[in-house]
Amino acid sequence: MNKVYYFSGTGNTYWSAKKLAERIGDAALVSISREIKQPGIHVEADAAVFLFPAYAYGMPTMVRRFLERAEIRAGYLAALVSYGTSPGGALAEAHRVLGRKKLTLNYAGRIPAVENYIPIFGAQNAELRTRRLALQTAATEQAAAAIVSRANNRVLTFQPFASFVSALFRAAHPGMNRLFRVTAACNACGLCARICPAGAITMTPERPVFQKRCEQCQACLNFCPRSAINFGRLRADAERYHHPEVAAGELFSVLREE
Ligand SMILES: Cc1cc2nc3c(=O)[nH]c(=O)nc-3n(C[C@H](O)[C@H](O)[C@H](O)COP(=O)(O)O)c2cc1C
Ligand code: SF4
Ligand code: SF4
Repeated sequence: MNKVYYFSGTGNTYWSAKKLAERIGDAALVSISREIKQPGIHVEADAAVFLFPAYAYGMPTMVRRFLERAEIRAGYLAALVSYGTSPGGALAEAHRVLGRKKLTLNYAGRIPAVENYIPIFGAQNAELRTRRLALQTAATEQAAAAIVSRANNRVLTFQPFASFVSALFRAAHPGMNRLFRVTAACNACGLCARICPAGAITMTPERPVFQKRCEQCQACLNFCPRSAINFGRLRADAERYHHPEVAAGELFSVLREE
């Protein structure tokens, strides 16, 4: 049995993980945000594949913690990063974390996708999105073929600038929940709380409240049906993004079911 572990905010990584699991066959799709809640994390598989988005040139904090805590027994290990412009040292970070556990990452791959950090970079225009979605499809297919054939490659591990940026982000993001603002358009539907992979949103009868354990995944802000969540200087009328083939219901039902 193969296992495909994913962390995803706006669906890009989830989409690739799902396609990859279908393509490599005999594979279970496992949500890292659900699995990390278990008291002991046991990864046992013929091939274990970890998919995650690049966050500030590194891995999401939850994915890093997951790899650090997991007891991993697999004949073949692969890590794939989805990214908007440059994944920086995200794969090198995975390689280092696994290396400290005396595990070797057999294959590391990059999956270009649409940028989702819209409060910082804004939404990509329709033409660029179409191009990035096509690149994502091709790269996912290429990664699946590599994993099916049990390909091996090497990761460039010396990336000091990327490591520095990633460490800064890890230190800063636990306080960034204070930058969320909820507008009067919110009708307290609770979708943001259900979709949050970090369980960082609690609902009062009137509105969501953001907790410190926010990973900055952008799911709440991009999936809110009323565009009622703003962050920093993001304007209420700014365009939102999530993967066009991943509906909110699919993401949170996956989180609840597994
Ligand atoms: C907090 C944060 C930091 C990000 N940092 C990077 C980055 O350093 N490099 C990059 O290319 N994309 C970066 N992105 C973009 C995402 O990696 C990219 O859009 C990814 O495909 C999102 O995956 P998801 O839809 O599964 O959440 C960042 C996004 C977020 C939310
Ligand atoms: S998803 Fe949007 S409308 Fe629904 S509770 Fe959250 S902020 Fe309010
Ligand atoms: S609060 Fe929003 S941005 Fe933070 S982890 Fe939850 S869904 Fe993601």
